Amino acid sequence: MTTASQPDLIREERGEYHLNPEQQAEKEVFRARLRAFLEDPASRQIEGFPIGDDDAILALSDPPYYTACPNPFLPEIIAEWQQEREEIRKKLGLKEECYEREPFAADVSEGKNDPIYNAHSYHTKVPHKAIMRYILHYTDPGDIVFDGFCGTGMTGVAAQLCGDKKAVKELGYRVDAEGIVWEGSKAISRLGVRKAVLNDLSPAATFIAYNYNTPMDAVAFEREAKRILWELEEECGWMYETWHPNCDAPNRVKGKINYTVWSDVFVCPSCVHEMIFWDVAVDQEKGEILDAWNCPGCATLLAKSPSKDSGAIKAEHAWETRFDRELKQTIRQACQVPVLINYSVGKKRFEKKPDAADLELIHKIEETKIPNPIPINQIPKGDKTSDPFNLGITHVHHFYTRRNLWVLASALKSCLSSKNVKAFWVTASMIRTSKLYKFTLDRKMGTVSGTLYIPSLWTENSPVKLLNYKLSISEAFLRTIQFNSINNGSSSDLKSISSEELDYIFVDPPFGSNLMYSELNFLWESWLEVLTNNKPEAIINNTQHKAMPEYMILMGACFREFYRVLKPGRWMTVEFHNSQNAIWNTIQEAVTRAGFVIADVSSLDKQQGSFNQVTATGSVKQDLIISAYKPNDNLEELFRLHAGNVEGAWDFVRYHLGQLPVAVESGGELETVAERQDFLLFDRMLAFHIQRGAAVPLSAGEFYGGLRQRFVERDGMFFLAEQVPQYDSARLRLGRVAQLSLFVKDEKTTIQWLRQRLDPSLGGEPATFQDLQPVFLQQLHQAKHESMPELHILLEQNFLQDEAGYWYVPDPSKVSDLEKVRLKSLLREFGTYVEGSGRLRQFRSEAVRAGFGECWKKRDYATIMKVAERMPESVLHEDPDLLMYYDNATLRVK
Ligand SMILES: C[S@@+](CC[C@H](N)C(=O)[O-])C[C@H]1O[C@@H](n2cnc3c(N)ncnc32)[C@H](O)[C@@H]1O
Repeated sequence: MTTASQPDLIREERGEYHLNPEQQAEKEVFRARLRAFLEDPASRQIEGFPIGDDDAILALSDPPYYTACPNPFLPEIIAEWQQEREEIRKKLGLKEECYEREPFAADVSEGKNDPIYNAHSYHTKVPHKAIMRYILHYTDPGDIVFDGFCGTGMTGVAAQLCGDKKAVKELGYRVDAEGIVWEGSKAISRLGVRKAVLNDLSPAATFIAYNYNTPMDAVAFEREAKRILWELEEECGWMYETWHPNCDAPNRVKGKINYTVWSDVFVCPSCVHEMIFWDVAVDQEKGEILDAWNCPGCATLLAKSPSKDSGAIKAEHAWETRFDRELKQTIRQACQVPVLINYSVGKKRFEKKPDAADLELIHKIEETKIPNPIPINQIPKGDKTSDPFNLGITHVHHFYTRRNLWVLASALKSCLSSKNVKAFWVTASMIRTSKLYKFTLDRKMGTVSGTLYIPSLWTENSPVKLLNYKLSISEAFLRTIQFNSINNGSSSDLKSISSEELDYIFVDPPFGSNLMYSELNFLWESWLEVLTNNKPEAIINNTQHKAMPEYMILMGACFREFYRVLKPGRWMTVEFHNSQNAIWNTIQEAVTRAGFVIADVSSLDKQQGSFNQVTATGSVKQDLIISAYKPNDNLEELFRLHAGNVEGAWDFVRYHLGQLPVAVESGGELETVAERQDFLLFDRMLAFHIQRGAAVPLSAGEFYGGLRQRFVERDGMFFLAEQVPQYDSARLRLGRVAQLSLFVKDEKTTIQWLRQRLDPSLGGEPATFQDLQPVFLQQLHQAKHESMPELHILLEQNFLQDEAGYWYVPDPSKVSDLEKVRLKSLLREFGTYVEGSGRLRQFRSEAVRAGFGECWKKRDYATIMKVAERMPESVLHEDPDLLMYYDNATLRVK
């Protein structure tokens, strides 16, 4: 131990942020109010109210800003913040009606090496540095930002660091004497703290978020932490001592254990010979762990999970039966034994095989009672729990060795009983000291992310060593100057936030079955004694009986709440990383169904470090950023007056064009703004009507014609007249416009692709069938279920051919005629889907789209449902248009 060597530290004054007697009394009042809130039976009816008794919730909470349950103080906090905001805006001369922003996308992985980011791990995290760029772009000082899936609370950290000049400059921005933030020669924001309201379903998450978002005295923290370390060393140091073998009595010295490696023990199914995995499969010299090895008893080739053609047979786990003192019963668990000790003598590190004294020490600890309470909760069955269950690990305490349990329990008790020190420092060490921490020969150890998998070789890290190392956590607090408010509940029920209160939303939602947060957080939460109520957890999980439809309902409910609490005319950013199209469509559908309008979807090109707009998601594997806005009251009002008639559609398009970026430069080129293209504008107009239950007043052909009459076209994009000068001047300066690449997967994307090739305004030119076909075949990635007409039929239905055989894009007046003919053929095809029965294995998505559009017009929701139910669910979820019709029809049939 290099720290806490001076016992006089014990007598040092404990201090975090020092409360004067008045503040202390105020705090007591809040605690009393929180207790009353907890005692009110109505409180526990709030969706996502965590599982824990009143005392445990009170112990974890720090009211008013943090409550480990839905926060009853939010209305007061927000009211106070609104007042402050008013004053700031007055001072800065900011006017509400002048708020105007374009969609924005920035790298969401920027800043992963920052000490703040690394202070406490979580299953996925968006670094605060990345979020700062978003907050600076969308908000002004004093604004209130919201994150409804806050995890570790990085959005809150980012919000307050927008007032930290050094942090803003670290992003590469310049800050002038007036506090204006510049990117190159462009003023992008103002320096100034923003406030944050953070919410998560998981008490582990909100507890971490609370610590990240509460000012503390870092110096006092370190002093207090060192005192605790000193006490821990006094109490538990003997458990991590080992004899240094390279010296003889009487000069023998003891080393301090850094970590002990434990290994599985296997049995040969052929000869029942028992062997330690470490002995038979690890070649330290070569740095190799063998997949298969020969049984030392009978030479049979064995493996943990034999592949088909390896010729190996499966080695069985050796089991031991022992008495569990905590559960007061006999349990059966897979055998694991210590095989390597890494220890230090002075500053030098050594490794040794455990000797008799080491084994004796472990045995002695096994026989001793742990003085402080440890969590012994049974692990509820989940999608990720078969890994530990298969080894007989059924309760939380089984994830730790006895000595690690002992130290963690003592550390946590000291931290929780002293108000000053963050128990967060201890929770930050709870995973690395568990059996989940894999040992690797290159010493690059870690957990198998997103699982509760206990590896065959795991590392028992000494908690005292780790806590000592984690003292640097205090760096994370040095710049925390503001309390953000934290709510622990489900985002599907945000009653304590009034409507239209918040200025910007940044969310990184749970994505389908990527991560089972409540299962993974169970370890932390058992220590904290407050557990996630997973009923409204928005994930896909077999054990919780949540498949895609349930996930969609939960996501929908959350986004509806986000829509409600956001001010009209303001923006939301949704960060998305999942390669499954169906999940992507579900999120998009939940966003638009809630009322938001998507203005941009961009993906990061990691190689180029630039953002590309995304029009189809077929190949999306990287991070996506959805920028969506809540239409302002004027548009909604106009739409209520004109809903379902042609003027309503153009009101929307006019407003939407006003929200889109005008000229986007990237790498010295002008980019095509995907959302300004006619087919995407049509899709957005369609969605806007359908989500609001209105009839769609224009067909695609009519829409394209009307668009050209009402707005100005440039390079295949549409603009408001007042936006044109800005675009033209950028065009003049930069010359070329980069085309977007299209993912051609079905009839709809084929038609878009053909237009790109044939339309001179998009850089194309008329072409013959022979020119088009070979390129088309290279581009096409047709889905299995898709029954697509031949290319020449698609050309005939959508384009015109001159006498020389060249296909070209018809002028807008002819588009409508062509469309009518095509629609007839599509509806004929759709008719066969309506009449048939049983599963539809192959079908023409365009025909279903056209049919659904027609049914929607006639309010024939039952037919939409009937055909949708004949289609494979996965396909329905893969196509955003079909999903939208189905989803909205479902709402109306019920
Ligand atoms: C992708 S993580 C967010 C991580 C976060 N961006 C960070 O940097 O730490 C998603 C979070 O959503 C939470 N969650 C799941 N269902 C929820 C619900 N219904 N309401 C609120 N939070 C929920 C999970 O507990 C998890 O912490």
